[in-house]
Amino acid sequence: MSLVFIANIFFRSSYFLTRLIIISLKFDRMLRTSYPLRPFGAPLSRLCFIPGLKYRHRCKKCRHSCLFDQASQLSTTASNSQHTNSIFRKISVAPMVDVSSPHFLYLLRLIGGPKPQLYTEMYHAKAILSFQQDGKLDFRLGLNNSSPRQIHAGLFAEPPDGSLIHSIRHTIPKNPAEIFGNIEARDNTVVQVGGSDPDSLARATEVLAKQREFSAINLNLGCPSAAVQAGDFGAALMKDVDRVIDCIQAMEASADGRIPVTVKCRLGVDEFDSEEFILNFVDRLSSKTSVTHFIMHARKCLLKGLSPAKNRSIPPLNYGRVHTLAKAFPHLSFTLNGGIRSLEEVQKQFNSNLNGIMLGRKMMDNPSFLIPLIKEFLDPDFTPTPQESIYACYLEYLLSQLERGHRPTILIKPTMYLFPGKQGRDYRTGLMTVPFLKSYHPKKPYSPIVDGNRIRKELVNLGQSLHQPTD
Ligand SMILES: Cc1cc2nc3c(=O)[nH]c(=O)nc-3n(C[C@H](O)[C@H](O)[C@H](O)COP(=O)(O)O)c2cc1C
Repeated sequence: MSLVFIANIFFRSSYFLTRLIIISLKFDRMLRTSYPLRPFGAPLSRLCFIPGLKYRHRCKKCRHSCLFDQASQLSTTASNSQHTNSIFRKISVAPMVDVSSPHFLYLLRLIGGPKPQLYTEMYHAKAILSFQQDGKLDFRLGLNNSSPRQIHAGLFAEPPDGSLIHSIRHTIPKNPAEIFGNIEARDNTVVQVGGSDPDSLARATEVLAKQREFSAINLNLGCPSAAVQAGDFGAALMKDVDRVIDCIQAMEASADGRIPVTVKCRLGVDEFDSEEFILNFVDRLSSKTSVTHFIMHARKCLLKGLSPAKNRSIPPLNYGRVHTLAKAFPHLSFTLNGGIRSLEEVQKQFNSNLNGIMLGRKMMDNPSFLIPLIKEFLDPDFTPTPQESIYACYLEYLLSQLERGHRPTILIKPTMYLFPGKQGRDYRTGLMTVPFLKSYHPKKPYSPIVDGNRIRKELVNLGQSLHQPTD
């Protein structure tokens, strides 16, 4: 009788203990993903006893229990002021249409890990809604990409053609999970959206906020292209600050605190280019919405007469004005963008008022420039992974994405950026002779084993021929 009683007590208590652990795990997850403030200041995992659950990123400088692992550095005004001098996330890679694909961002994560902030290319709000409708959101935005663990499992599994894998095995880092394990978490990635209709922007925000993949949603207010003007969004919207406020208020209502909304804009548009204009723009936006982070492309743009490319070089840069804004609104965060191409220039622009620097074309020309940037401004102890390993790991990712149905040309594009200068030209020429690509046809059935091994072999050979030192 007493044995039954003891057994009963034992089973009941272990049941309650298990429930308690499950609830605390769920609660912890909820805290990790909640915006903008955590009620207890720190995730439960930091406070609780569950082994193996450790708070991963702690602000090295001020040791605050803060949101830095989840939200961007800009998630709350309170945390901004605490982190004005923080070394976190000072560097970001700009959104670039047709460049910043999910695959390019994957490559950047392989190179630079979680510290630099990455921006997706711009997606129109209605495009996001139609991806969602067609069930293609994951595919188009690169969500749920095969995890590095799967990729590495693939790398280390015994392949049908063992010699092939053996030939690239030496290029794989010794402890890839430790180096690349964070690629799964997209908490260093901001998704950029375009649009001017509050309703579709709000619905797109709802779709994105539900994903809980990105650290912020950024509204594009800087693109001057003719197509974007025809759609009545981008830089043209800056002329109508009330409309911008309507859009952002709708997005924020829809985000409901789950994800912050930020903006990327120019210093002015057409004749709206005075200092008063931009001061008033920032003032109105920040007082009528919860936006606290402004990415400032430090030049105006002209909607008529200049192509987007010329609008990135002809209107003169005015860094001084961005610094003026940062001084005038010390409670807000400003990231300076435009024309930055060297460590010296980054260093020169940083001061205690500016929150970050964003680089675009330099990253496109040479993504490996992330390495000195990280070492200099984010993490002096950063150990870069050799380029051969990056290339080899990216190829495994490429194969996994080919299986998902992405086109080889789109997947190969980021590797072209990996080889700058003369090497890049040789790589591009080499690509034209790659037999798999020459015979590729989207309608031809793709066999992961036969075609996958073939393309891996051909691209590995091409990469290796370039990695070998030339006399
Ligand atoms: C190919 C290309 C595509 C771009 N697409 C976008 C975009 O989708 N959204 C955006 O806000 N800016 C876009 N930009 C502008 C960049 O984000 C950045 O503001 C600009 O290039 C200036 O920075 P940089 O001098 O460091 O390149 C694009 C730039 C380039 C070169």
